[in-house]
Amino acid sequence: MPETLTATPSETTLSETLIICKPDAQERRLIGEILGRIERKGLKIVEMKMLTISRDLAQQHYSEHADKPFFGELVDFICRSPSVVAIVGAASTDAVSIMRTLIGPTDPATAPPGTIRGDYGTVVTENLVHASDSPESASREIALFFPER
Ligand code: RTP
Ligand code: MG
Repeated sequence: MPETLTATPSETTLSETLIICKPDAQERRLIGEILGRIERKGLKIVEMKMLTISRDLAQQHYSEHADKPFFGELVDFICRSPSVVAIVGAASTDAVSIMRTLIGPTDPATAPPGTIRGDYGTVVTENLVHASDSPESASREIALFFPER
């Protein structure tokens, strides 16, 4: 059995990030694979829900890209079918960077094998998973998707 499955994970959560298993993950039956990789890495699913993201929520979430030529396509895609949104915690202060390393670079065509995007994607829009790109983004996105928290 691999070492990662026998290690006792710490219950302490020192930092959090937000992830989204995007519509292509559900359509391609990869939600379990993605969440499994996150858990096997030793990160903790702290909160989770499934929803079809509304256009309003998508536009707020991706507001930094509002002026980009791909914004319309990005919003259409993220609202196309249900997503799984989760808060992911780490026992270190590095939840954001650990998750970004796990998913790989934005474009699956050039993302290295071993990363989620590198292993399962081929086109930039349908890159399976979102993860916050900074602790500040994580706080903003957690408040957006889990306002009750
Ligand atoms: P995400 O926010 O979804 O985690 O992705 P990211 O940080 O790796 O990339 P970002 O620059 O924030 O872009 C957000 C999403 O926009 C789509 N995109 N399309 N056609 C294009 O050139 C292009 N560039 C970016 C991607 O789906 C990316 O995830
Ligand atoms: Mg981003």
